[in-house]
Amino acid sequence: MDLITRAPKGTADLVPEAAEKWRAMEEVLASEARLNGFGEIRTPVFEHTELFQRGMGDVTDVVEKQMYTFEDKAGRSVTLRPEGTAGAVRAMLENGLFNAGYPVKLYYNIPCYRYEKPQAGRMREFRTFGVEVFGAAEPAADAQIIAMALSAFRRLGLQDVGLQLNSIGCKDCRKDYHQALKEYFSARRDQLCATCLSRLDRNPMRILDCKSPDCQALAAGAPKITDYLCPDCQEHFAKVREYLAALGIEYTLDPGLVRGLDYYTRTVFEFPSQSLGFALGGGGRYDGLVEEMGGSPTPGLGFGLGLDRLMLALEAQKAEFPQPVRCELYIAAMGDEARVRALALVDILHKCGIPAGCDICGRGLKAQMKYAGKIGAKFSMVLGEDELSSGQAVLKDMSSGETGKAGIGESFVGDYLAFSTAYLDDEIRGGISIAQNT
Ligand code: HAM
Repeated sequence: MDLITRAPKGTADLVPEAAEKWRAMEEVLASEARLNGFGEIRTPVFEHTELFQRGMGDVTDVVEKQMYTFEDKAGRSVTLRPEGTAGAVRAMLENGLFNAGYPVKLYYNIPCYRYEKPQAGRMREFRTFGVEVFGAAEPAADAQIIAMALSAFRRLGLQDVGLQLNSIGCKDCRKDYHQALKEYFSARRDQLCATCLSRLDRNPMRILDCKSPDCQALAAGAPKITDYLCPDCQEHFAKVREYLAALGIEYTLDPGLVRGLDYYTRTVFEFPSQSLGFALGGGGRYDGLVEEMGGSPTPGLGFGLGLDRLMLALEAQKAEFPQPVRCELYIAAMGDEARVRALALVDILHKCGIPAGCDICGRGLKAQMKYAGKIGAKFSMVLGEDELSSGQAVLKDMSSGETGKAGIGESFVGDYLAFSTAYLDDEIRGGISIAQNT
């Protein structure tokens, strides 16, 4: 029975009140992206499995352990996307978005799937808000997307978010680094977990983000990539830091930060939440990925923010989310004819963009008024035989009890607006916004 009465482990429903908060948060992020010239991209929830193997690297935790992979009815292997970058690269190439000229700037807000052990901030279905920039090799691009994420955090009013920064170099400087890592970990192989042992030859950098405490302790003393950067990568990183300083952005250098996916080159960064103990987001450059996926050599960079985690952080600091008004005017009705008129008046209000409601459950007058109070209607109006014959009804402010008259014929909307405008503040008419700290 559990199978049909409970959502699958690691997934969550968003009931209307929660969904309103999410919508408000997502609007801030999307508007920040649009402000920075990004266009939205929507890609399929599932892709060919090879896309992720090739894109993220097959010796990564996500690809080796966490993908929802299955065969479709034609025997093709497909995978629910575990992240957004690989699909965005594919879509950029397949749709020839580069033809319009570089940089191509895309953003997305997507559900992602990873078979992980669920815990606070770690879901099997989670939402990512991500941005990707193609064709921008300059360090200014790195600084700009970091500034953009921080600006979105500020607009959301997030208080407790840091910035960790590192450079993991390019393919060339990584050759020597891989060798140094292999030597270091080989000398300590008896202390490595089974997964890391198998990664020692294939992809030693992935040992650095293993979650086992023993491997983490070893990783702390391992050679640092920053000591192996080639002159070009050193210069790129120095410039990124110069731009960040010019933008007044503070950060912590973390030479141990390598991120968990193989496509990264040069700049990598994460946004840790100190109080919650996990990263709210992360990203970096991936200058080899587009070529790896069959395109011409094209630099790329971006970040992904975990929306479930952002919401946890906002809730932990008790951020306020104004709720939209679901019903401004509730029209209660007695009798068949009045009910028909109520429905028609509510329809007119809806056409004017005014939230309004009337009874659709066959309730008596008292129960209708009780319901109007329950849904937070600002005003009410009762229609019965008297109102129908006089062509006028009484509007009532539900909180102050003040009343006014409205014709229920052609003058209805005008009369209603004249009455209600005196009582409604801009926030209610303006809908939702959580830009408390802009
Ligand atoms: P990622 O660090 O694997 O990077 O994921 C981005 C963010 O998604 C994380 O920082 C975290 O907030 C959230 N996240 C990841 N896994 C889970 C989970 N199981 N439950 C809840 N939240 C989660 C990427 O995916 C890259 N594609 C980011 C990127 C875009 N890099 C360049 N462009």
